[in-house]
Amino acid sequence: MNKFNNDKRLTRKLDHIKLTLDLADKNTSTRFEDVKLVHQAVPELNFNEINLNCTWLGKKLAAPILINAITGGSEPTEEINASLARMARKHGLAMAVGSQTAALNNKSTIKTYQIARQENPDGILLANVSALTPYEQVLRAVEMIEADGVQLHLNVLQELLMPEGDRDFKGTLENIAQILVKCPVPVIVKEVGFGISQETALKLIKIGVAYLDIGGYGGTNFALIESLRNHPPQEQTFKTWGIPTAASLLEVKSLQKPLQIIATGGIQTGLEICKALRLGANMVGIAGLFLTRLMLKGEEELSSTISNLLRELKITMLLCGARNLTDLNKVPLVFSGELLNWIRQRKLKVD
Ligand SMILES: Cc1cc2nc3c(=O)[nH]c(=O)nc-3n(C[C@H](O)[C@H](O)[C@H](O)COP(=O)(O)O)c2cc1C
Repeated sequence: MNKFNNDKRLTRKLDHIKLTLDLADKNTSTRFEDVKLVHQAVPELNFNEINLNCTWLGKKLAAPILINAITGGSEPTEEINASLARMARKHGLAMAVGSQTAALNNKSTIKTYQIARQENPDGILLANVSALTPYEQVLRAVEMIEADGVQLHLNVLQELLMPEGDRDFKGTLENIAQILVKCPVPVIVKEVGFGISQETALKLIKIGVAYLDIGGYGGTNFALIESLRNHPPQEQTFKTWGIPTAASLLEVKSLQKPLQIIATGGIQTGLEICKALRLGANMVGIAGLFLTRLMLKGEEELSSTISNLLRELKITMLLCGARNLTDLNKVPLVFSGELLNWIRQRKLKVD
């Protein structure tokens, strides 16, 4: 990889952050608004006893929340990774670094990812590369940050909308299968905001994938971001493309396979985290909200945002009569609107 390509990648990363901030308030729909958790007026619970603890990838977490992949590869992004890792340590959350392709091609940027491990030596930290990355490089990415797991991202639409992006997606399944054989840590296949369908999930399960981040539609929108990055801005034909996060979660859950599911895509509140967990997520991932809070208001404000999410999650659990994450699985649900339509047309099995 030459310097020109690396410079382009760096500019792209910084563009993505800037556009995420610009678009922060223009949220589209995850369809979590079509899920109601049934209120219990006599929950017989003490708020202080609501317990969010869980174990994931063999380590304990204070709550099933993942600060999802955002960045790395340049000086400003090193600071972002340092802040996010401090937040992960302080609040007992998991974290993923952004795509490590930059570091695999340019050693001088390795430290911008390693900072996350230095700031949180004992926490859960995930490596991140494209699902088309050769396995030797995946192993280097894992080693680079002593990762507890590795995310392989799928971002077909984003690549197609980038003038410099990939065009050939053949061989993705074969490559993932090879990584699964060679990789010493759990492998998580991850969408970046267009969702995972049942059909895709089945293909991935068939080759042995056991961890899926459904990365659904309704939050950070890379179709829109890429169209705005182009000069002049491109048509926005694909800005509504994708499977809403709640629908994607149900698509995958209704397969009733032994999968660990991470629900990411447009999560903004503790109530939505609770809905995602109830719909079958083992972990909930958040990127855009954390990034915008950090960049616009600073680390302290991000810390308050996380505390408030945890508070809202506990309030919701109490109102549903759930003392812990296991109880939450039994909470009754009602679906409406477009999500109910989706469930019916796709013949999803939901409980
Ligand atoms: C600025 C920015 C950069 C991102 N970079 C990556 C990346 O390098 N690798 C990846 O797998 N996902 C990346 N993502 C996607 C997020 O991990 C997440 O899947 C997506 O933003 C949806 O979550 P959200 O709606 O909470 O932002 C990025 C997101 C943002 C906002």
